[in-house]
Amino acid sequence: MEKIVIVTGGAGYIGSHTVVELFLAGYTPIIIDDFRNSKPWILDRITQIVGKEITAHTVDCQNELAFNEVLSTYKAIYGIIHFAADKAVGESVNQPIKYYQNNIGSLCVVLNALKKFDIKNFVFSSSCTVYGETLTPVVTEESPIMPPASPYGDTKIIGERIIQNYWKTTSDAKVMLLRYFNPIGAHPSALIGELPQGIPNNLMPYITQTAKGKRDSLTVFGGDYHTPDGTAIRDYIHVSDLAIAHVKALTYLEKSSTKLFDYLNIGSGKGTSVLELIKTFEEVNHLKLNYQIGNRRPGDVEQIFANADKAKKIIDWTCKFSLKDALLHAWEWEKSLTT
Ligand code: UFG
Repeated sequence: MEKIVIVTGGAGYIGSHTVVELFLAGYTPIIIDDFRNSKPWILDRITQIVGKEITAHTVDCQNELAFNEVLSTYKAIYGIIHFAADKAVGESVNQPIKYYQNNIGSLCVVLNALKKFDIKNFVFSSSCTVYGETLTPVVTEESPIMPPASPYGDTKIIGERIIQNYWKTTSDAKVMLLRYFNPIGAHPSALIGELPQGIPNNLMPYITQTAKGKRDSLTVFGGDYHTPDGTAIRDYIHVSDLAIAHVKALTYLEKSSTKLFDYLNIGSGKGTSVLELIKTFEEVNHLKLNYQIGNRRPGDVEQIFANADKAKKIIDWTCKFSLKDALLHAWEWEKSLTT
């Protein structure tokens, strides 16, 4: 029987890569996306990669009536993967209500729909941001949840709690929260990738846009951290590896005969500094980047990377792509863009 999986935000960066991996694993993904942060042509690109038509519904997940109307057109829905959310940390500080309204509002609509349509499997896109100012650079799932550094981070912490409270009221829901570290790169085909709107907030698209000449130069935010080269350390993970983690999580939920609630770090387990990332990018792509060291960015943590042992143990997931692969693919994608 066809296994229909609703993917909210499925035209977005992580969503589109996950849709590809769902198809490859034999699922039938259905996208619900209002394209506020994505482009409809991504759908054709997905089709080019997988050789199948993708069904997408243009709906804002906060619109409960419209959302339920879409779901009611499918006989049996196997699961929901919920990506649809706003994600710019800085913007969330200036527009907190936008973040609470959209990220929490959409989540409540989705959880209501799980119950209404008797959908058992649910995967939620959470973030390592829940660990906030970490006590140790490497975090396990048992590391404490710290006060959020931004309203965006708060929506992920609150979101996790809402889901757990929902789950407690059900007799058979199976839920996996995935706490992502820093996704970078693009599909190896260079047909889909990240499409930041305006000036990128994140390091990777800033690097590729600088390399392309779209930005004059990159500022490294802080060179005086207590790290070997003075720049901040993160755990960068290829977006296709992250996408595969969703498929493996779903398959794992499927196998469980009892209700289940769990959460996993999805990261490479390796810390990379900003300067290391820049230097590796230059090396693998044979180019020189224009950059300078600037001030620290408020709200940034010094270093954080994953202990991803639990993901290996529970869903048999590890990274297949290297950091170099991710940097090659990010550059191939950037070069393919006409703007
Ligand atoms: N950085 C620069 N220059 C830039 C952009 C970023 O030096 O122009 C640095 C940042 O200061 C940081 C590192 O590059 O040290 C990574 O920054 P990103 O903005 O790419 O990623 P963050 O680690 O800040 O944020 C990511 C996700 C968020 C998530 C957060 C959790 O984008 O969604 O991790 O820590 F909430």
